Amino acid sequence: MKRLRVAIVGFGKLGKACAEAVRDDEQLFLAGIVRRPESLGEKLPSNMEQVPIVPHTSELGEVGVALVCVPTTEALVVARDLLQHRISIVECATLHGKALQEHKEELNRLATHHNVPAIVGAGWDPGALSLFRAIFDLLIPGGQTETSWHTAASMHHTTAAKSVRGVKEALSTELRTGDGKLQRYVYVELEKGTDPANVESAIRSDHLFLGEETLVFPVESIKTLEEEGRGVLLERRGKAAGAGHQALLLEARYSEQALAGAVMAAAARAIPLCGRGAVSLFDLPLGNLWGMLKKRGEQEWF
Ligand SMILES: NC(=O)c1ccc[n+]([C@@H]2O[C@H](COP(=O)([O-])OP(=O)(O)OC[C@H]3O[C@@H](n4cnc5c(N)ncnc54)[C@H](OP(=O)(O)O)[C@@H]3O)[C@@H](O)[C@H]2O)c1
Repeated sequence: MKRLRVAIVGFGKLGKACAEAVRDDEQLFLAGIVRRPESLGEKLPSNMEQVPIVPHTSELGEVGVALVCVPTTEALVVARDLLQHRISIVECATLHGKALQEHKEELNRLATHHNVPAIVGAGWDPGALSLFRAIFDLLIPGGQTETSWHTAASMHHTTAAKSVRGVKEALSTELRTGDGKLQRYVYVELEKGTDPANVESAIRSDHLFLGEETLVFPVESIKTLEEEGRGVLLERRGKAAGAGHQALLLEARYSEQALAGAVMAAAARAIPLCGRGAVSLFDLPLGNLWGMLKKRGEQEWF
């Protein structure tokens, strides 16, 4: 399988996550990293020491796609330069609604003029989370979506959950559902060999948790969750095709850069299947994100 040569422009948090995602991908090859002159001398992580670092993409030879990982304020300038050099781009500038539409229109104009493809809004938010929101709306058209963001910092340690046998450490948080009901989320780090179902039922039957809906989530490390965890709870309730009380729930804990990096790499796989002009993640056929493994993805997930 011929790998697509990928350049990463900007080596901050997102650029680093993209580099990891590209290196792990059997369809992609990390051709090099493009940095500002003042950053060129900085040392790369030890697993990237062999990767070329250059001040401009044109110094990397043939490049199939560039992943734009610079601050949102710089994204258009950088993207314009790449497109003028007839290099396809993938980007995920933090823009939403009308601002994202205008950004996409301008990139579409440039990409069409220079006869190359571009994929915009290909991160976590905008990106994969936007697709979840859109699918929730398709499934429950007569409903209401509630979004609550939470970080590990808003969670508190719970001695009640920690005193359950088999629980090493626990964090809990409270959230309101779309219809105003209180829900408790309890994250637990378990001793080896502990059955999560026993822990869940012990926590739920504790008098402190009785009376409220309590959801228990086993995690590998509470410390990691506290350090890097971001979280979102997306909930849509309402009527679908005449049936009332339909409910969809997405509970996510994640590193934003890591998920955005995974989506950027997936969009890079889709670039050879795109025509000229700019599309968003919303426009793209989902299967194209599997690139050459599209058929395998459909077999596995459909
Ligand atoms: N859609 C999503 O889900 C999502 C997720 C994460 C991030 N983002 C967006 O992606 C962008 C990058 O995020 P990040 O977390 O990687 O930011 P960051 O850590 O600040 O890194 C940005 C990098 O861009 C380069 N850069 C180029 N021009 C710059 C300038 N004028 N000022 C500062 N840096 C400049 C620098 O790399 P060099 O030093 O190598 O030149 C810098 O390290 C942001 O716009 C962010 O909003 C979107």
